[in-house]
Amino acid sequence: MMICAPVITIDGPSGSGKGTLCQAMSQELKWNILDSGAIYRILALLILHYQVDISSEKAIISLASNLDVWFLFQNGDLKVMLKRVDISVKIRSQIVSDLASRIAALPCVRGILLNLQRSFRKWPGLIADGRDMGTVVFPDTPLKIFLDANLEARTYRRMLQLHKNGVNANFNELLFQMKERDERDCNRSVAPLMLKDDVLIINSTYIPAQKVTEIALDYVRKKLI
Ligand code: DC
Repeated sequence: MMICAPVITIDGPSGSGKGTLCQAMSQELKWNILDSGAIYRILALLILHYQVDISSEKAIISLASNLDVWFLFQNGDLKVMLKRVDISVKIRSQIVSDLASRIAALPCVRGILLNLQRSFRKWPGLIADGRDMGTVVFPDTPLKIFLDANLEARTYRRMLQLHKNGVNANFNELLFQMKERDERDCNRSVAPLMLKDDVLIINSTYIPAQKVTEIALDYVRKKLI
């Protein structure tokens, strides 16, 4: 019997600090990373680039079937690569964020991206962040974390991230857009963001990132022993 590599899943809403936690844990444990949101974003970027009609399931499936995506650590930052091109900044624009959230609600998109996401499960282990990592993509793992934070804190963090990437963003507009995306992510019929009772819940609103990492690592180490 083949034993699968272990997986830590980190689910939660936008801006809750999943990416930061994922990277910090990966650096500590030397495990691989899957930023599943980046995959939805890449698909959205390609749809915009090729001007694909999102009502055409066939066209979307064809684009989504051949994504050559990988993640690379460089100078302390996680780079999202499509083939050999670094598209980390391009996929964070507002138009891409909005479309990613829309296409993520399409059952055909979620279905076609399942195998790609699972292909990142490699030794010594994987840390996967998203909305349905623990509920749908890797439901078998006992290492599940749900990271939350209030809407204002999450909006503020997203704004700083956009500014860092040279993207101008207004707090109130961003707050409105985050709220809309939260509603879409939580209320869609397939793989919505939801909280089950087999997870460690961390609310990061008032906790510094370093403390969040400590709590998460402590949980994982206790479970792995
Ligand atoms: O985490 P993020 O903001 O980069 O994700 C982009 C969009 O993709 C977001 O609206 C939610 C969606 N998403 C999803 O539906 N399922 C995932 N596993 C990851 C992201």
